Amino acid sequence: MASLEPDGTARNAHAARRRAEYGPAAKTLHWTVAALVLALLGLGLAMVRWPANWLSPLPLALKSELYQLHKSLGLTVLALMLARLIIRAVRGAPPLPDTLPAWERRAARITHAALYVLLIAQPLIGWLLVSASRVRLGSVAIAVPTHWFDLFTVPHLPALAALAPAEADRWAGIFKSLHTATAIALTALVALHVGAALRHHWVLRDDILARMAPRLGRSRKGRSRPLALSLAPALALALAALAIQPVAIAAAVPARAASDGVTPKTAVPEWRIDPAQSAIAFTARVSGQAVKGRFTRFTARIAFDPADPAMASVEVQIDIASLATGQAELDAALRGADWFDVAAHPLAIYRARGARRMEDGRYALDGTLTLRGVSRPLTLPFTLELRGRNALARAAATLDRTAFGIGPRGAISGLTVAPEVRVEIAVAARRAP
Ligand code: HEM
Repeated sequence: MASLEPDGTARNAHAARRRAEYGPAAKTLHWTVAALVLALLGLGLAMVRWPANWLSPLPLALKSELYQLHKSLGLTVLALMLARLIIRAVRGAPPLPDTLPAWERRAARITHAALYVLLIAQPLIGWLLVSASRVRLGSVAIAVPTHWFDLFTVPHLPALAALAPAEADRWAGIFKSLHTATAIALTALVALHVGAALRHHWVLRDDILARMAPRLGRSRKGRSRPLALSLAPALALALAALAIQPVAIAAAVPARAASDGVTPKTAVPEWRIDPAQSAIAFTARVSGQAVKGRFTRFTARIAFDPADPAMASVEVQIDIASLATGQAELDAALRGADWFDVAAHPLAIYRARGARRMEDGRYALDGTLTLRGVSRPLTLPFTLELRGRNALARAAATLDRTAFGIGPRGAISGLTVAPEVRVEIAVAARRAP
């Protein structure tokens, strides 16, 4: 660039470099957002479209962790993009070189503006989507909270959180389609942006990409530093963010062959449950008042043929630590030694082999529930709605908590907790191909 040469003084060269390049804050934000967006596109696809027949189905607990991770990273992009906007408004961007044809300068401005719009719109749409989404619990519909890296809970947007379930579903459907469409547009735009940057670097051999390269694209003497060297850490981070996911997820998925004794025979159809549409909730009565809660993490292996229920085989594992009543102190008390004793008994497990069709058209599973280390038989009647490959099963049962040693039998600080606890289960599942 001509402005670097005129009098050869270090100060002039430095000032010229500052004008021609983005600042360190803008560069850091650019490469961090780039890595996060690649990670988010990969994560989003893995959560929503993990092929049921690839390696093994995603376990439910892992899937809901991925949803939380996706939401946390996505909201981080929103915060970083707002910071980027402020920096850009204050410091501006280095002007594009005059040597660039007018059409290319216009195309660059349009692409950059579109990237800003989409990178702010996409996380906002995601936030709108989770604020409108509800999981079905029998007749009750509940919203899934968003925990930012388990550090704090991000509130749902109030106007959507207050909607009646049917209206909320309608909006959730709209935001879901919009989120997918924006992800496709973003992928296309990122490809265009990367392609243009690489064309400048490798075909036109100019300094456009060096303007955004980390650790400055030029050495002190004003000579170009090999760009591959400058970009290597950022590219490695971005590629690792994309590549690590299938590997990490595949590693976390337990091999089907290594599963336990309830692995179904191949002849019986298997069902993959949809955690976003499935829920396990409980209602207890404290001095006559209903206290409601649910377990947010559980996995299920289901093999079931409606035409031959006797061959059914089901195992549900509930992560007790995921219990949530909406009151943090109560949750902590319920996880404690007097109640669920999560430290000693982290999982509740329900296993059943064989189901039967009842006279009223419902089915029933005869199984065993192991809770707090105590196993008791539990018959679970359930209704089944089949639509093509999709199924919705709803079950409800009343348990005696004292039979499992959960909580005291008498009054606690003047409050009485009824021994009976109502449990409601809704499982949305899709038949494996
Ligand atoms: C730049 C940021 C983001 C990107 C690039 C992104 C990308 C994606 C992608 C590619 C999918 C899969 C879509 C499909 O296959 O149909 C997805 C799904 C999803 N995203 Fe995001 N996302 C972002 C931010 C967010 C945020 C901030 C939230 C919520 C707070 C969010 C919530 C969701 C949810 C709930 C789904 C699943 C939707 C479904 O079940 O169909 N996303 N995202």
